[in-house]
Amino acid sequence: MTSAAPDILTTAKAAAHRAGEYAVAERQKLTGTDVESKSRNDFVTRVDRTAETLIVETIQSRFPEHAILGEEGSKRSGQSDFEWIIDPLDGTTNYIRKIPGFSVSIAIRDARGTLAGVVHDPLREEMFSAMRGKGAWLNDSPIQVRPDSQIATAILGTAFQHKSKHNTPAQLYAFNDIFMNVSDIRRLGSAAIDLCYTACGRFDGYWEMGLSIWDIAAGALIVEEAGGIVTDFSGKPDHLENGNIVAGTSLLHPFIINKLSNHFSGTATNE
Ligand code: IPD
Ligand code: CA
Ligand code: CA
Repeated sequence: MTSAAPDILTTAKAAAHRAGEYAVAERQKLTGTDVESKSRNDFVTRVDRTAETLIVETIQSRFPEHAILGEEGSKRSGQSDFEWIIDPLDGTTNYIRKIPGFSVSIAIRDARGTLAGVVHDPLREEMFSAMRGKGAWLNDSPIQVRPDSQIATAILGTAFQHKSKHNTPAQLYAFNDIFMNVSDIRRLGSAAIDLCYTACGRFDGYWEMGLSIWDIAAGALIVEEAGGIVTDFSGKPDHLENGNIVAGTSLLHPFIINKLSNHFSGTATNE
């Protein structure tokens, strides 16, 4: 465990809190001119961009030597093994439409992988966090995946690729196979929150394809440190690379993988 670890988590929480407070303050002021389309059904606002600037400022004030990769264009090479992966506003469409359910997601990676992660939901004042090998928390309380998870009573999270819909038929067939066996399924609009709800037992599991590393790096560590399993659609630990993710309890993760395998080959692509 690096000696910088506690400072890293404290800094990540401070950065996420600063960006979250800003996003809440600006939410009612947002107008149409503040929104741009990055691609089909994929939007960015001035709040996404400014939130990322605030996060980078906070990080660099403490760790100027660390590398940075942000969804909205922040990219800094570093002089150390540490890299910060930033999604300044996860759930931008919810944010634009004033649908509750957006978060700030910040992960820190070292040479061994993800070291720490925070996901902050500023509207609900919930800060999810994890440190590799040390556990996961919601605010100051330790969290774990749902202990009495059963397939028939399971509540799952998912989302459909809405930026490119060529996989929609297979996604809907897979949804049907899964839905017919569990209790119900939610589509919240923030992948980072979906993963944190899995980590704290609100969901029994979650799956989605076509994501980016900044959507899932923090939430995936939070699920793993809460005792959950996280892989890609083929059961391999390549979800951060290919953007296809399945997270869940030891019962629901393999169940989801099995149902997906009927509709997606092991190399499900997100193009
Ligand atoms: C999106 C959200 C959404 C997921 C999309 C992501 P963004 O992130 O996480 O739930 O389904 O694939 O792109 O664009 O709001 O940061
Ligand atoms: Ca995102
Ligand atoms: Ca985003």
